[in-house]
This record gives sequence, structure tokens and C-alpha cells, in this order.
Amino acid sequence: MEIKKICVLGAGLMGSGIVQVCAAAGFDVTMRDIEKRFIDNGMNTIKKNLARDVEKGKITREQMETVLGRIEPTLDLKEAAGDADVVVEVVIELMDLKKKVYAELEEIVPPHCLFFTNTSGLSITEMAAITSRPERFIGTHFFNPVPVMRLLEIIRGQQTSDETVEIAVAWGRKIGKEVVMVKEAPAFVVNRILCSMINEAFFVLDEGLATPEDIDKAMQLGCNHPIGPLALGDLIGLDTQLRICEGMHRELGDKYRPSPLLRKLVRAGNLGRKSGRGVYDYGKK
Ligand code: CAA
Repeated sequence: MEIKKICVLGAGLMGSGIVQVCAAAGFDVTMRDIEKRFIDNGMNTIKKNLARDVEKGKITREQMETVLGRIEPTLDLKEAAGDADVVVEVVIELMDLKKKVYAELEEIVPPHCLFFTNTSGLSITEMAAITSRPERFIGTHFFNPVPVMRLLEIIRGQQTSDETVEIAVAWGRKIGKEVVMVKEAPAFVVNRILCSMINEAFFVLDEGLATPEDIDKAMQLGCNHPIGPLALGDLIGLDTQLRICEGMHRELGDKYRPSPLLRKLVRAGNLGRKSGRGVYDYGKK
């Protein structure tokens, strides 16, 4: 099956990044979200990223216009997904909400359409099971910032077909990503390890072992990480980090208990860069 038209559901940080890399690879993409301001923000992010690439001489202004011309932002689900070959769903990490979206999509998409879910750790099999096409359903886990990070984790559900795996792997490579295949398990490979480390950094902070700056500095200089774990939590979003930890705790046991400090920050609305404040202060949003 040849993929021509892709529908991305979600225009946030991850959704807009996925739209950008798909359009840059030559696909026609619809970007759908539920409010105009989300779509406008998503388009602005893409324009800013591409303009930076023009400034750096990585692409020409004409190439930027061509990429932007392949993107169609919309609020209308039918318009977005009605003739899509693939839907990449980037809805917030709540299983019930994702299921609701798939129930709606089932009424709209053509029979051959594949469902790719960008989830940071939820069960692919559970989502696929509520659709009429579990064999055409697969997990495609991207990393933030999507245009920069080279990895794509591909997770096959219990009923995903070999053909769907092949198509998803080829698509991942076409949009410039290195692919690793992962068996389905809570948080997959990267987040199982990464979010455990970030969670531990919050325990370390809560115990007062060092300042946030020194915890981050220690991991950057001591382990050559590009960014410290607390700053990375702020980049990922502390609410997302908490949800991933809660999922691992629920399914894998007490070893993965979320840090109470992390929970407290989320309750206070300190969600990281996106809210203007997380562990660090980024100025008012
Ligand atoms: N969008 C697009 N490009 C971006 C960007 C963004 N949001 N942020 C940075 N870049 C680009 C810059 O333009 C720059 O490009 P060039 O090399 O062409 O000049 C490059 O990335 C480096 O950026 P900077 O020099 O501004 O800053 P930096 O060196 O501090 O790098 C970073 C920034 C790439 C984010 C780096 O800190 C990093 O790699 N951090 C780790 C990110 C990470 O671990 N992500 C995974 C999170 S886990 C996840 O996403 C999964 C999940 O489910 C939670």
C-alpha cells in the first residue's frame, strides 16, 4: 500500500513536529485539533522551525513554501481523515479519550486506512481492540523535539499484521527516523528507562541532596547527557512525565512509584516549559 495522505490528530508540540517531518518528506498532511488556537500555535511552531532552517541555509525559502503548501490545518475531523491513508493520532495520553477518538474515526476513514498511535506508553492492543481493524493498528512513538530527535519506536500490538509493521517501518525511515522495534509493555523501552531516571531525580531533589541546577549539572557533566533530568522533565511536560510514571506504577509495581514532589508540582499547575513554570521558571505564559 502506498501512503499519500496522512492525517495527524493533534497540533501540540508532538503533533506539529510529526506534521512537519511528514510534510518535509513529501506527504500531504492534514493537521487537526479541536480549537483554532491549537492549530494556529501548531502552524506557527512549524513556520518558526522551517524559517530557522532557511536562516541556517539548510533549506531554501522555496522549499519552505513547498513544505508549508503540503499542510492543511483544519478543525473538521471528516475533512482531516475522510480520505487519509494513515491517521497518526497524537491525542493526550488518556486511554478513554483515545478510545473515543478511534470510535469516531471508525465512522469516517476509508477501509484501507491505517491507525498509528503516538503514545508514550499506553497499550496498543487495548486501543486496537475497540476498532474493526486491529491488524492495521500500530504504535509509533516519537521523541521531543520531533524534528531533531532521530528515533522512532515502533510497537506492534497483539493483532498487528506483518504488512502494517512493514509499512510503518518504511514510513518511519522515509520521514528520516531510525526505527527500533519494541514489544508491547508499559512505557516501551525509552520511557521505561528515561522516565524512571527523571522520577529518581525528583526523589533526589525532594530529599535535598542537591539544588535542581546541580542535579542537572551533575548528570550533564557526569554522564554526558545533553540536558539534565529535571530540565528534561520540564521539556517533556511534568503532567506527561507523571502519567507515564503512574502507568508504570499501575502495571509494573511499586518500584515505579511516582515522586510525591512531581505529583505536587503537577497539582500546582507547574507543568514545565509549556505552562511557563516547572522545576524551573520560564517566565509567565
Ligand atoms: N524544534 C526544532 N528544532 C529544535 C528545537 C525544537 N523545539 N529545539 C532545538 N532545535 C534544534 C536547533 O535548531 C539546533 O539545530 P542545529 O543543530 O541545526 O543548529 C539543535 O536542535 C540544537 O539546539 P540548540 O543549540 O538550540 O540547543 P541544545 O544544543 O541545547 O539542544 C535539545 C536542544 C536538542 C532539545 C537538546 O537539549 C536535547 O537533545 N535534549 C534531550 C531531548 C530528549 O531527550 N528528548 C526526548 C524526550 S522523551 C520523549 O519525548 C518521549 C516521551 O514520550 C516523553
